[in-house]
Amino acid sequence: MHTTTSRALLVICSLGLLLAACSDSAEDSSAQQVSAATNFDTTLTMRELMLYVLEPAADGLWSTAGWVEDREGYRELYPTTDEGWEHVVASAAMVAESGNLLTLPDRALDNDAWMIYAEGLTQAGFRAMAAAATRNKEDLFQAGADIYSVCSACHQAYDPEINSRFTSD
Ligand code: HEC
Repeated sequence: MHTTTSRALLVICSLGLLLAACSDSAEDSSAQQVSAATNFDTTLTMRELMLYVLEPAADGLWSTAGWVEDREGYRELYPTTDEGWEHVVASAAMVAESGNLLTLPDRALDNDAWMIYAEGLTQAGFRAMAAAATRNKEDLFQAGADIYSVCSACHQAYDPEINSRFTSD
């Protein structure tokens, strides 16, 4: 995990995209803020962001957080390997960061409820991340349910049609 992170940072640094973040002196935080405020690119439509970023991230979590009943009876869906748990941690991290992506100017539909839902998604994502990191199945299940509630609540508020299209069951 650590190696992967360092490698990703190295790639980013060599692309020169985040020079401020890579330099040793992180003290010039105002410069970092300026670059963060001007360098984002919201080409992805809301629909694409949902379909290609949020939903896969949430699925990576939901598909492992709970139980299913099938012909063989009840089965736990929780990971059984270290790698499996790492995957849930990563999915939860992506859900958490997705909340931030929703708050970008040009994405946020208002400065009110939208931001609360986005923040709720991030916080539920962090709870899921912590639960997966400690392999706490109960907390992971709860955090997964919280994430689902935030998705549905925001859709209900901004595009109620979506909930009827959701195939949750
Ligand atoms: C802050 C509000 C908000 C949150 C939180 C949110 N969504 Fe959405 N979602 C939207 C909006 C707005 C649309 C409609 C986008 C469009 O079609 O223009 C949408 C659309 C969708 C669609 C439909 C795409 C399509 O047209 O087929 C899916 C799937 C989706 N969201 C999944 C999710 C999932 C999964 C989560 C939670 C992990 C989530 N969303 C959280 C606002 C939100």
